[in-house]
Amino acid sequence: MSDGIHLNLFTMNSVEHVSPGSWTHPADRSAEYRDREYWTDVARTAERGGFAAVFFADVRGIYDVYGGDRETAIEHAVQTPSNDPGYLVPAMAEVTDSLGFAVTKSTTYTHPYQLAREFSTLDHLTDGRVAFNVVTSYLESAAANLGLDERMDKETRYDRADEFMDVCYALWEDSWDDDAVVRDRESGVFSDPAKVHEIDHEGEFFDVPGPHGCEPSPQRSPVIFQAGSSDRGRDFAAANAEAVFCSQPTEHGVREYMEDLRERAADLGRDPDDLAFFPGVVPVVAETEEAAEAKYERLLETVDVEATLALLSGFLDMDLSELDPDQRIEHIETDAIQGTMNAFTKSDPDREWTVREVAQFSGLGTTSPVVVGTPEQVADELQYWYEEVGVDGFNVKEVLRTGSLDDVVDLLVPELRARDLLAEPTPGETLRGRLLGDGPRLAPSHPARQ
Ligand SMILES: Cc1cc2nc3c(=O)[nH]c(=O)nc-3n(C[C@H](O)[C@H](O)[C@H](O)COP(=O)(O)O)c2cc1C
Repeated sequence: MSDGIHLNLFTMNSVEHVSPGSWTHPADRSAEYRDREYWTDVARTAERGGFAAVFFADVRGIYDVYGGDRETAIEHAVQTPSNDPGYLVPAMAEVTDSLGFAVTKSTTYTHPYQLAREFSTLDHLTDGRVAFNVVTSYLESAAANLGLDERMDKETRYDRADEFMDVCYALWEDSWDDDAVVRDRESGVFSDPAKVHEIDHEGEFFDVPGPHGCEPSPQRSPVIFQAGSSDRGRDFAAANAEAVFCSQPTEHGVREYMEDLRERAADLGRDPDDLAFFPGVVPVVAETEEAAEAKYERLLETVDVEATLALLSGFLDMDLSELDPDQRIEHIETDAIQGTMNAFTKSDPDREWTVREVAQFSGLGTTSPVVVGTPEQVADELQYWYEEVGVDGFNVKEVLRTGSLDDVVDLLVPELRARDLLAEPTPGETLRGRLLGDGPRLAPSHPARQ
C-alpha cells in the first residue's frame, strides 16, 4: 500500500471526455481546452491540491458506431474535437514542480522508435515526471485514416503492443549506459561510442537496429500506466503496468481485478506490490449535504443521453441505437474495450443492466462510482477504499471543468490532509518515486529489467 492516497486528474484535451453534455452547464470552462492558459490553470490547481498527476486520455478516430454514423458524435462533441495531449505537458510542467503527466499513446498507430524519442524528450523536460498510458485503440474509424484497411483484431493489437514495448524498453533501458555521456570539454568527447549500443531488434512488426537517439532521461522508461481488461489485456497489464487504471464501478469488480492482476504479475516473476491501482471516481463535493445533492441534481440535468450512448457504443463496439432501451446488456467479448463491457456484465454478479440504466449511470463519468456529499462524507468513502480495499489512489473524473477539480482541491483535499491521508510529494522526486515509493528507475523485477 502507498504512503497515502494519490490523486490523478483524469481529463482529455477536448471539450467532452466521459461526461457528455456537461459542457452545456453555464459554469463549465471546457470550451477553453484550446488555450494554454486553461491548462496551466489546471496544472497549478492540481499541484496546489497535492495531485500526483494529470492523466490525459486520448483517442484515434470518431465515435461512429451509434446509428452507424458520426452525426451524434460531432453534434454533441463526443471526444471530438480533441487536440493532442503531449504538447500540453511542457507548458504545464513549466508552472509546476511536482505534478506528473500521464499521456495516452497508441501502440497500434505509432512507431516505437518515434514514441521512445517523444517520451525521452518529455521526461527530460519535466525532470522525470512523465508516464505513458499504453493503449491499443478501439475505434474502427481510426484504422482507415492511419493506413490500415480495417482495425486489427485485438489479439494482433496486443501482439504488436508486446513487441512495441520490447523495442521501447530496449531503447530506454539498454541502449545508453549510465556513464555513456562524458561531456568532457578538454578532450572534446561528448559521449563514449563504446557505451552507446544498438538494440538489433528484428521482429514480426518492427525492425529497429537502434541505438536510441536520446541520452538517458531521469526515469529512462516513463512510468507505465495501463488499463487492459480482456484476458489478453490483463496479461499485458501484468507484464508492463506500474500503475493500473481500474474501470469497474463496484468494490467486487475492483477487488477481483486487483487480485487477478497481482497473481498474473507474480507469475511473471514481478513483485505484485510494484503495481499501483487507481479506480476512477466522480466526486461531487459541497460544504453541506443539501448543497452537494443540489449540485449533483444540476449536473444530472446536463447529461446528454444520446451522446452518452454514442460514447458507449464506441467503447463497446455495439450500436446501442439498435437495442430496446429496456433490453438487458448481454456479456460479449468485444474487440473494443472489454473493461466497459465487464463493468456492466461482470463487476456485480447480482446486478443486471438494461440499456436505459447503463445510459443513465454512465452520463457522469461512465463506469465509475459517483460519490456525493460533504468533504467528510466523500473522504470517508475514499478512506474506506484506500484502507479496506487496498487501492493506491484514485483517478478523479471531472464533470464540470474546472469546477470538479476546484471542489476537490478546495473542499476534499483539506479534509484528506487533516486526516493525514493524502500522499504529499517530496521535492525533486520523479513521478515513479512518488507513485511507487522507489527510485527513478523501473523496479528490478519489472520484465524490462529482468
Ligand atoms: C479505464 C480505461 C481507460 C481507457 N482509456 C483509453 C484512452 O484514453 N484511449 C484509448 O485509446 N483507449 C483507452 N482505453 C482502452 C484500453 O486501453 C484498451 O486499448 C482497450 O480497452 C482494449 O483492451 P481490453 O479489452 O483488454 O481492455 C481505456 C480503457 C479503460 C478500461
